[in-house]
Amino acid sequence: MKDTFTIAVHSPRGGTGKTSVAINLACAYAKEGRDVCLLDMDLKSPSTFNGMFPYSDKWVNDILDHKKNIQEVIVDGSKSIGSEGSFYVGYSNPDISAIREFSSKDRKWQSDALKELIRSKKNLQKEGFDIVIMDTSPGVDFTSANVVAASDYVLMVVKPNEYCLKNIKQAIDGIYTPLGKKCGIVENMCLNGQSLQMGEKYGVPVLSTIPCMCEVSMQGLSKIFTVEEPSHPFSSAIDRLKGSINY
Ligand SMILES: Nc1ncnc2c1ncn2[C@@H]1O[C@H](COP(=O)(O)OP(=O)(O)O)[C@@H](O)[C@H]1O
Ligand SMILES: [Mg+2]
Repeated sequence: MKDTFTIAVHSPRGGTGKTSVAINLACAYAKEGRDVCLLDMDLKSPSTFNGMFPYSDKWVNDILDHKKNIQEVIVDGSKSIGSEGSFYVGYSNPDISAIREFSSKDRKWQSDALKELIRSKKNLQKEGFDIVIMDTSPGVDFTSANVVAASDYVLMVVKPNEYCLKNIKQAIDGIYTPLGKKCGIVENMCLNGQSLQMGEKYGVPVLSTIPCMCEVSMQGLSKIFTVEEPSHPFSSAIDRLKGSINY
């Protein structure tokens, strides 16, 4: 069985570009010929939806609720994005009642959910995926910590400002270090492409510095740059990021 590398795309705060990085990176890996599974584990704010991705009415929520296994939930999007490798997606349920229901889960449910996540990871390895990318909720509560716990590597997407530094420390000290997770930082939406080298202080490498680009902001998640415009500066930045993740 080949090794599957699982990346959690996380951030201490919301709106830093996690989902943009997760989608574009997953597609870039698949375009390169890797077999990739992208999971939207941000159950509080479902977002891995894009016009290019296939329709599904099966949700990752059902995996955590012990109603379905991962193979029943993920859908094949390889044709949709024209990738060389296989590309599968698992969505979280955007229905308001599902979001509310998830917000009220207790610790026991969270701990059972972690077991399901680890089982899912093993199943994806059996299915032969090279890379699993899990988009997470921001912050340090159990919903994020579970996804980090089930991953091999954390990609922390931050905006480079002094305010974020405090939150970075909290995520490193509160989650990544206790769980023994390797981590790399992506500084996103950098003014004039400037880096603050925000991980240096904590011994975490800055893998990539992505400038703030109006076009990316305008398009939101409706455009997958690494698929639709591979020579765009955002796609080039994601390609460089891909090259700097060692696994
Ligand atoms: N490098 C960038 N330059 C400009 N806008 C960006 C960049 N990266 C992401 N965005 C925009 O920021 C907003 C939030 O991004 P999103 O990926 O949804 O963040 P998160 O998942 O962390 O909440 C989106 O409108 C997205 O298009
Ligand atoms: Mg998001």
